[in-house]
Amino acid sequence: MIYLKTEEQIKKMHESGKLLAEVHKNLRSFIKPGVTTMEINNFAEKIIRDGGGIPEQIGYYGYPYATCTSVNDEVCHGFPSDRVLKDGDIITVDMVVNLDGGLSDSAWSYGVGEISKEMQELLDVTKESLYRGIEVSIEGNRIGDIGNAIQSYVEPLGYSVVRDFVGHGIGKSMHEDPQVLHFGKPGRGQRIQKGMVFTIEPMINTGDWKVKIDDNEWTARTIDGGMSAQYEHTIAITENGVLILTEQD
Ligand code: MF3
Ligand code: CO
Repeated sequence: MIYLKTEEQIKKMHESGKLLAEVHKNLRSFIKPGVTTMEINNFAEKIIRDGGGIPEQIGYYGYPYATCTSVNDEVCHGFPSDRVLKDGDIITVDMVVNLDGGLSDSAWSYGVGEISKEMQELLDVTKESLYRGIEVSIEGNRIGDIGNAIQSYVEPLGYSVVRDFVGHGIGKSMHEDPQVLHFGKPGRGQRIQKGMVFTIEPMINTGDWKVKIDDNEWTARTIDGGMSAQYEHTIAITENGVLILTEQD
């Protein structure tokens, strides 16, 4: 069941998204060699709380932290820890902000210090794939068009699309219908309509798309040790077209 949002609800979620975007903008300079993933988590959590928000991920199905910090071959749901980032690493920081009942969800990948050309290309392609998905998120198209846009862009470049995790509607709860696959055939799935709010969050790998789950029962990593990146926005379908609620400008 897809819950369509009113303009007022979307406005509230946009305020939440602006706070989340502020966190990512601050992470650009905070993330550097020598910093730990727990320090990144605590830095992000403080900005959320100082802005009047609640880190919605804490306690979600028992998830312990405000953010997911996924390094190199970690695909998603990496636990913040005392792991020290080093030059050439890549890290994805993902979080959900609740501001006055409005939810927003956004993940962003960062290079640590000086990264290789190959890693920079992975980041660029993954970010571009998100925006290609957003571009086709228009009234009248179908949800399946989004996954098709992403898959048909990244695969010819030699990358793979993770199948095990999907974008999702978001509103009163973090995960609502529809599911937004990042691969698949065009013309499938629900019709995109005004009032829908959902995430697009492609996880793109340099090697195989398959993942395995760590002993902590959360962290997904690539099965072959390849690198993985992710960019995620929360978007709203409005009468003026798509509005990116977590845009960073
Ligand atoms: N932010 C994630 C998403 O994109 C949710 C992470 S699961 C949690 O859907 F348990 F960590 F919250
Ligand atoms: Co997320």
